[in-house]
Amino acid sequence: MTAKLINGRRLAEKLRGELRIRVRSIAKRRGRAPGLAVILVGEDAASAVYVRNKIRACEAVGIESTCIRFPSRVSNEELLQTIARLNADDAIDGILVQLPLPGHIDLPLVLETISIEKDVDGFHLYNVGGLVVGNTIFSPCTPYGVVKLLESENIAIAGQNVVVVGASNIVGKPMALMLMSRGATVSICHALTRDLAQFTILADILVVAAGVPNLILAPMVKAGAVVIDVGINRLPDGSIAGDVDFHGVSQRASHITPVPGGVGPMTVTMLLENTIASAERSSAQAFRDNGRIQPAPGLLEASGVNNA
Ligand code: GUN
Repeated sequence: MTAKLINGRRLAEKLRGELRIRVRSIAKRRGRAPGLAVILVGEDAASAVYVRNKIRACEAVGIESTCIRFPSRVSNEELLQTIARLNADDAIDGILVQLPLPGHIDLPLVLETISIEKDVDGFHLYNVGGLVVGNTIFSPCTPYGVVKLLESENIAIAGQNVVVVGASNIVGKPMALMLMSRGATVSICHALTRDLAQFTILADILVVAAGVPNLILAPMVKAGAVVIDVGINRLPDGSIAGDVDFHGVSQRASHITPVPGGVGPMTVTMLLENTIASAERSSAQAFRDNGRIQPAPGLLEASGVNNA
C-alpha cells in the first residue's frame, strides 16, 4: 500500500482564504481588524522562527499583530503586568505567550493571567477544563488542526482506535480529549510506556507528538492506519524530520501527513481561526451589551467570573 498524502499546506491555504473574508467583514463592521499580541521571551531560535511565522500568517489574512519581546531575565511581575494591560486593551482579541519560558517564570500563573476570552492558544485552565467537559472557548491550535485535517479527508473518528504518542499539555493530552469527545477509543503513550509497538499496532488513527525523530517505524503500524506526524525535529545535517519514518510507514498506512507541510501549517491556521473567532465573539458581545438583544446565560457570562 502507498499512503495518500494529507496535504496540510493546501488545506491551510484554502482555510486562510475563508479567514481573509471573515477578517474583512469584522473590520468593516467594527472599524478595526482582529488583533493578536504575541509575547516572546528570550532568544530561543526555534521559538523566534515560530513567532515570525505566526506574525507573517496574521499579515497575510489581515489580522493586526504585535510582537512584544522580552529578554530571558524578564521578571514575573513585568510579564504579568504586560498580560494584564493586553487583557484590558480592546484592540487585542488574542494573546499568545510563546513557550517554552525560562525556568524562573511561573508558567501556570502566566497562563492563568491571560483572559480566557483572549486565550487563543487554549492553554488557560478554564479552556483545558472545558475540553474535559465539552464547552471550551478555544481549542489548542495543534490538536484542533489535526481534527480539521482528519475531517478534510472524511476520516471517521467515532468508534476508531486512536493511539496518541506523547502526553504533553500542548498536544498529546488535549488531542486525546478532543478525539475522545468525538467518540474515539483513545490510548495515550508516553516516554515511560513499555513496548510502544504493542499499542501503536492497534491504532486505526495514530497521532505522534513525541519529539523523537524516526520513533515510529513501519512494523509498528497497522496496515491501512491513518498516521498523523506532529513532530518537527531538526537533524544534525540541518534538515527537518518528523517522528515517523515517512518512507517506511507510507508503504503501510492508508493516509499520512508529511513533515514539513502536514500539521505545522494547520497549527498556525487554527491560531488565526481562534483569533478571528474571538473578535467575532467580542463584536457579538458588544451588540448584546448595547441592549439590542437580551444576553442569554452562556459561556461568556459564565467565564467572566474569574477573569478581568
Ligand atoms: N510552543 C510550541 N508550540 C506552541 C504553541 O502551540 N503555542 C505556544 N504559545 N507556544 C508553543
